[in-house]
Formats: sequence, structure tokens, C-alpha cells
Amino acid sequence: MSGDIVKRIETLRRELHRHEYLYYTLNQPEIPDEVFDRMMRELQQLEEEYPELINADSPTQRVGGQPSAEFPAVHHPVSLLSLSNVYSPEEFLDFDRRVREGLGEESYRYICELKFDGIAVDLRYEHGRFVRGATRGDGEVGDDITVNLRTIRSLPFQLSAELPAPVLHVRGEVYMEREEFKRLNVAREAEGASLFANPRNATGGALKILDPRVVAKRPLKLTCYALWFEGIAAAGWRQSRVLEWLQRAHLPSSRDWKLAENASTVEQIRQQWEAKRSELPFDIDGIVIKVDDFAQQQRLAATAKSPRWATAYKFKAHRIETLLNGITLQVGRTGAVTPVAELEPVLLAGSTIRRATLHNSDEIQRLDLRIGDVVYLEKGGDVIPKIIGVNVTKRSSESIPYVMPDHCPACGGELVRPEDEVVSRCVSLNCPVQLQKSIEHFASRTAMNIEGLGPKLIQQLIENNLISDFGDLYYLTYDQLSGLERMAQKSAENLLQGIAATKERPLERLIFALGIRHVGRGVARALARSLPSLSSLQAAKVEELQEIPDVGHIIAVSIRDFFSSSSNLDVIEKLRKAGLRMEESKSSDGFKPFDGKTFVLTGSLETFTREQAGEKILARGGSVASSVSSKTDFVVAGPGAGSKLDKARELGIPILDEAAFLQILEANQ
Ligand code: IVH
Repeated sequence: MSGDIVKRIETLRRELHRHEYLYYTLNQPEIPDEVFDRMMRELQQLEEEYPELINADSPTQRVGGQPSAEFPAVHHPVSLLSLSNVYSPEEFLDFDRRVREGLGEESYRYICELKFDGIAVDLRYEHGRFVRGATRGDGEVGDDITVNLRTIRSLPFQLSAELPAPVLHVRGEVYMEREEFKRLNVAREAEGASLFANPRNATGGALKILDPRVVAKRPLKLTCYALWFEGIAAAGWRQSRVLEWLQRAHLPSSRDWKLAENASTVEQIRQQWEAKRSELPFDIDGIVIKVDDFAQQQRLAATAKSPRWATAYKFKAHRIETLLNGITLQVGRTGAVTPVAELEPVLLAGSTIRRATLHNSDEIQRLDLRIGDVVYLEKGGDVIPKIIGVNVTKRSSESIPYVMPDHCPACGGELVRPEDEVVSRCVSLNCPVQLQKSIEHFASRTAMNIEGLGPKLIQQLIENNLISDFGDLYYLTYDQLSGLERMAQKSAENLLQGIAATKERPLERLIFALGIRHVGRGVARALARSLPSLSSLQAAKVEELQEIPDVGHIIAVSIRDFFSSSSNLDVIEKLRKAGLRMEESKSSDGFKPFDGKTFVLTGSLETFTREQAGEKILARGGSVASSVSSKTDFVVAGPGAGSKLDKARELGIPILDEAAFLQILEANQ
């Protein structure tokens, strides 16, 4: 073996570690993913060829070893205390008073950090090398989860800064970002696995997995906030210096910390973060306030459970009580009726909440909601307020269970609930709300995109009996429009032009605009591609429809039902007579460089939205899928890409960054 190979391996390892740091810790990658992957593969190949050169700290060795039967116990050299809590300015002033008294006349300052809501871990470094990682456990004894922690890509195997002692203990928190957590739950739901309640539980669950290969696929992150070594207090350290040192050592740690000279500054900082917490991509449940100077920390010392020099100032939970004033029913375009809670307005996580969806009558029953109840309202990771229960201690003895009405609030028509569905529907043919919504849908940006036709104007047209379905739009006259209240001449002209301009819209848009139940944009596109005209769609049998990609039995039946309604056929006839294009244009099936190729888009792109990127792929004859599988040909990954990217790597599917994607788009104009 030549020295060149040893050198090459060393260079690759050094570079790969550096790029992991740039990507996972600083979020500032310098090279495209494929270049990184290529280097990683080269290193893997060299290590396969020269197994004697493999070492545990190689970036190829993040996932190592076999699943274990259990985690060995670790005795922490200094016990890992937890923190006392305060919940209000008064309680913090009490804490501050005790600090002041403890330190006599000395001046002191606080450092305020974010309190990450994750799982506490202790990392042991010997001579700068990561040798062991453990959970906090009961503070004295934890689990040795070294193999799991090694899979976290921002955890450095080797520290970069000058070492203040041969043995260092770094303490931090493993956590999951909310978006990644949601993606994980979506994937678990698809697999039929149980769901995690919140990112913290998902993190705890992941760290307990005995197979590091599985752990490596969980989107775990690390942030460090403490350092301990023999004699640290005597060496004149302070917490602010620790946080700076952590950065230099290339350990991931938050830059969101501030020094505070007194309690009122602490209060301001707490308020700022409490207001901004939902803007952070991860959960924090408060701020941690520490006396900055370690010598002073040592003098203040600790009680049996927690230090006297630090406390957690907890935020109010994103849960609040309010009054349920009523339940209203909302009618959708397809007649689906959704009950909505009308609430006494309350401020929750920075916004005023007046209403919350209750989804369906089963949900109301499950919660046993009664009008006049005091309900618990919570804002989950997804920002949508949700009623999670009733404070039954505050329930009036006169309250009665809620009964779902059996008539449509908009038209008085009967509501029906098919046995296998949870949703009630208004099946009336002339329900004004359904009419309004179906025309709004027809005119919407992603359907026919009629400029100048918004909900207010649609309502006006319906109320003046100028339209009774979207087919009538194409027969509106200038005189009719200019006769409407608040309608300027110019607007009437523009609207007529806007409507006329939609006659040439592609077939897939027209199919989508019809508002057939279960036919979204993707299905409409698939239908337009497989069938050359609206009349062939109309004539197609359920079995034929089911042959089309993305069309299952439910969709096929829904299409057939749509075309067997005489009122729907009347509307289509109006559209045909008005001269709408009802055939797929010839030009679009000419050039198809991406024919048969399936793309998956993940993460964010700069040049355009994912939707626009999808259009470009489709325009070239390719298709776009929502999840990565062995059928995927390319994955286009932007920043923030998560599990899909991991899956692609795992399956060895070519990954394109935005620049590479743009190149192949341009090459295939
Ligand atoms: S310092 C002795 N700093 O909160 C002080 N803890 O209940 C040790 N935590 O167990 C903790 N962010 O898991 C500290 N910036 C931060 C923190 C933090 C989150 C967690 C940690 C600890 C718990 C305290």
C-alpha cells in the first residue's frame, strides 16, 4: 500500500468532517450534496479495499456495530442535577433575592439561554476524542447510548478548540425540529406504526432504540450548553466563556444567549422569547438563567436536587381555557358539513383564537362537548388551534349533550351520512353555499384562473340571478355586469375578458375545475394524459378509469357518478357551446425528454416553489411522486430536506441539488 493512499484517506476524512460541520452545525454547506456523497463513497471504497486503515473516528463509521440487547449503565463522575423552576416575575424575583443574599455584597450577572425541550445527554471527550455518551438517567447513573449519539451528524468525533483538560464532559440536549417530527409521524402513520405525541417523546423514543441503523434514520439534532472538567471553577471560567468555547470546539450550540445585569433585563428577555417561541423551528419550554461566574456558582452551591445558581423560567403552556359559545356548521363545495366551535376570543401563542374546527360529529361525541362548556384549547406544532378537552369541573348542571342537526344550515336540505363515512353531507342540488363554493373553485388560481372573479362578486352574481352554475359565466353580458352595484365599466370589461381568456385552458385544468369529488390536480392531470378529451372521460367505464395511474376505485366511481347527473351534463353542455377547449392540445405531447422518469422533490428551492418545479418536470413528460421508493429515478433536494433525502441515500438514488436540477431542465428545454 502506498503512502499516497493513507494520505488520500486522511484528506477525505478531514474534508468530510469539515463539510459535516458546515452542513449540520453551521447550516452553511459549501459543496453540493452529490460532491459530498461522492467523497464519502470514495472513502468507503478505499476502506473496503484497505480494511486495516478503518478507524472508529472515520466519518463512514457513524453507524456502527450490531444491535445491542441493552444499554450498559454509566456512573456520572459528577451528578447531573436538574433545575428548579419559576413561573412568574414574582417567583423569579424570589430566586434573584436568594442569589443576592448568597453572594453578600458582590455584584453578579446572569446569562440567559434557551431551554431546549428534549432529552439531556452527557458527552465524554478524552484528549479531544468522543469516547462515550450517556443519558442523564436519575442524575447519578444513566444509559450508555454512545452508538446512538454517534449517528447524530453534528456530533464531532474530535474537538477542534484548545483543550482545557484531558477529560471533558459536555452536556447538551438531543431534540427534533417540529417539521421533522411531523414528517416522521406522517411516515409512521403510513406504515401503521404508533404516533408520537410531541418532538420530545419522539426523541426519547429514538434514543432508546437498540439498533443504531434505525436511530440514524431519525432526524435527531444536538445542542450543547454545559462543560465540566476537574477544576473548572478554580480556573476562572464563566458560562459565557463556555458557550464561546463550545462554538470554537465545533460542538453545536445555540447562539441565542444574552447576558443580563439584573432581574428586569431577565424579565425582558423572557418576554421576548415567550413571544417568539413559535418562530423557532424547535420547541423550547422556557429560558434557563444561570449566574455567569463559576466561582460564584460554586459559592452558591446546590440543594439536594438542583443548583442555587440557576433556574428554569418556564413559559406558560400553549394551553388555555375558554368558553364554547356555540357550534356552527360550515358547508363545503361538495356539500360536506363541518362543525366549527365558536369560542370566546382568547389570546393563545401570539394570536387571537375565535374558532376551531371540530372535524365531524364523532369528534364532538368523543370530547362530549356541550355548548356553554369551558374547553381546553391547545396550539400544536402545526399552529392550528385544537380543542383537546372539557374542564368538567366547570360544567353547568343544566348542560345537555350536543346533537348534530339533520338539516343544512344554508339551504335547509337534508343532511345524510353514508354508513362508512364520518362526514355528513348536504345532498341538495340547489344549496347556495355549495353553488358559491363550486364557482369559487372553478375560478380559482389553480383551476381556470379567472382574473377579477372573487368570492364577493360571485355572491353578487348569484344573488342577482345572473348565474346558477359555472357554465353561466360564459354567457354573461356587458350590460348585465355593468348594471351591478359597485361595478365600474372597466372592471366589467376586464372580467368578460378574463372569462373569455379561460376558454383555451388545458384540459387538465378544466377537469380539475369541474370539482368532481376526489379529483385533485394530480388526478386531473393523469386523466387528461390518459384520455384525449372530456367526452372520452365522460364515456369511460369504471374499469377503464381504474387502469389510469393514481385512479383507484373510489375515484373512478366518483367520476362515473359525476357524469351520470343530468344537471352536471347540462353544465358541461353550456361549456361546450361556449367554445371551451375540451381536448388535450397536440403540442403538449410532442417533446418528452423526461418520459417515464419519476422525480421526488424535497426541501426548499430558491428559484421556484416545489409546485412550479413539479410543473416543469411534468411539462417535459416526467412525473412527480410524493415519497421515495425504488421506483424513484431522481430526488431533487433543497435545504431542509429530511427523511426523503435519507431514504434516497439509502437506496442509492441520484440526488440533484437545485443547481444540478436547473441544469438538466435547461438542457431539456
Ligand atoms: S443547564 C445544573 N441549560 O432542562 C444545570 N439545561 O430541568 C443543568 N435544558 O436537565 C442544566 N436547555 O435537560 C441547562 N440551556 C440549557 C438547557 C437545559 C434545556 C434541560 C436539561 C435539564 C433540564 C432542567
